[in-house]
Amino acid sequence: NDHLGKGLPLCGKKVLITAGPTYEAIDPVRFIGNHSSGLMGYELAKNAANLGAKVFLVSGPSHLSVQHTQIDLVKVTSADEMYNATVALYPEMDIVICAAAVADYRPKLVAEQKIKKTSEEFTITLVKNKDILFSLGEMKKEQFLVGFALETENEVENAIGKLKRKNLDAIVLNSMNDSGAGFGKLTNKISFIDKNLDIKTFELKTKAEVALDILNEIKNRIHA
Ligand code: CTP
Ligand code: CA
Repeated sequence: NDHLGKGLPLCGKKVLITAGPTYEAIDPVRFIGNHSSGLMGYELAKNAANLGAKVFLVSGPSHLSVQHTQIDLVKVTSADEMYNATVALYPEMDIVICAAAVADYRPKLVAEQKIKKTSEEFTITLVKNKDILFSLGEMKKEQFLVGFALETENEVENAIGKLKRKNLDAIVLNSMNDSGAGFGKLTNKISFIDKNLDIKTFELKTKAEVALDILNEIKNRIHA
């Protein structure tokens, strides 16, 4: 049904989106995770598809679902699985948005059996996960690459640091200073910063509306 997308702003574009948290196993029944619901990434996927794009949504564990003929959902659990799925799809993509809350560290050893309680203190050694977005920045060819930044201090400065370090075309700064924004919320307050350091700050909105704002900023820059 390709003809249905003709004339839509993202018609013919392939869009890759990472979403949700990652779970890093400790033993067969336990993991290290975070409170990401995946909603921001799923809203980006739905809205990109409605704008005519073919969407690949690589999602960590989330209760959300998608029903759209133009969205391929790839479910993963750990950061390592998300890395593999994302890197495999990357070369063919036009637009890539990393909205996942990827765990920065994983347990160095995963116990084969459920860990028993013994001593009063228990220490888990963690090792760094691969930075998916950084790797995509290194491999970048024609893709328009967008990251997210979640900051609690020096927000703009830190976001620009990530934009440059990861070789991005733009970064979406999630404002945590606003009580209506972030994990588990239906709303978000963002600033969109492009590689020329043009900063556009938006009002507090639903994540669906934020997704449209982000896609609109990207669209204006890929056609420019
Ligand atoms: N990201 C990623 N892979 C990781 C860590 C982060 O792809 N292993 C991506 C996120 O999806 C997001 C961006 O990098 O788009 C920034 O994530 P964030 O946690 O804000 O930054 P980090 O680079 O991990 O730095 P820190 O957590 O120390 O602030
Ligand atoms: Ca991080």
